[in-house]
Amino acid sequence: MNQPITLDGTTAIVTGASRGFGRGIATALSAAGAHVVGVARTRAPLDEVRDELGDTFTPVAADAADPATAARLLDEYRPSTVVLCAGAVPPIGPLQDQTWEMFGRNWNVDVAQAFHWTREALRRPLAPGSSVIAISSGAAINGSPISGGYAGAKATVRLIASYAATESERAGLHIRFVSILPQLTPLTDLGATGVEAYAARQGVDVDTFVQAMGPALTPEQVGKAVLELATAAEPVHHANTLTAAGMSPLV
Ligand SMILES: NC(=O)c1ccc[n+]([C@@H]2O[C@H](COP(=O)([O-])OP(=O)(O)OC[C@H]3O[C@@H](n4cnc5c(N)ncnc54)[C@H](OP(=O)(O)O)[C@@H]3O)[C@@H](O)[C@H]2O)c1
Repeated sequence: MNQPITLDGTTAIVTGASRGFGRGIATALSAAGAHVVGVARTRAPLDEVRDELGDTFTPVAADAADPATAARLLDEYRPSTVVLCAGAVPPIGPLQDQTWEMFGRNWNVDVAQAFHWTREALRRPLAPGSSVIAISSGAAINGSPISGGYAGAKATVRLIASYAATESERAGLHIRFVSILPQLTPLTDLGATGVEAYAARQGVDVDTFVQAMGPALTPEQVGKAVLELATAAEPVHHANTLTAAGMSPLV
């Protein structure tokens, strides 16, 4: 049996690290001994994460969807773990109230990010044993009819990770490409926007809607799931659903 991979003394890049799931992931990887480079566009909340995690966290204010960001940070930090967690808050409204610009928002951020970072990781390539973990969404399976192009964009994020896993295998790169599809949760800014919108659409208040959802997925649980995939001794599944009850391979 293979030994679990240790992150002690390695470098991880986490996009969207300033709040929500990304902050939970940065905290988990840092606790596992990785130096975490956290990316988000706004500097102040990143500095708060640094205050909490100390010198093991380096804040970088940058647009993760810009191909130049991916190329620059991969070359500068040579990470063994890359977690693509940044994502745009989807524009809320039924199809007929969306513009093409609104519908495309998550394609221009979430999909662009997944495409550029994954492509750069393959082309360099990252060192054998590295992991690139993309945060997709349960909406990729179930759809999200009042979030414009969000669900389709997240489905494409999952596909990009799975295509890259195939390319990695074909070229013998030993880079792990994997996606996580978390359930909707009211505990982050992005999730709270969705929960509020779906509660209003059903004509119930937010508390009633949240209670009906059952246990909420926490950023700490997302951090634990990422750590599990980045350090697993055995090959991992290319796509994994994640709820408060745990992580399961998407079959
Ligand atoms: N919460 C949920 O219910 C849920 C469910 C399934 C999947 N997800 C996915 O999980 C990921 C994290 O969601 P979350 O709920 O934690 O969201 P969140 O609380 O809104 O945090 C989003 C993070 O991404 C950063 N960000 C956004 N656009 C960026 C860009 N262009 N470049 C760099 N950073 C950017 C934000 O910082 P700045 O705004 O300062 O850049 C922030 O750090 C997203 O990909 C989301 O689609 C969330």
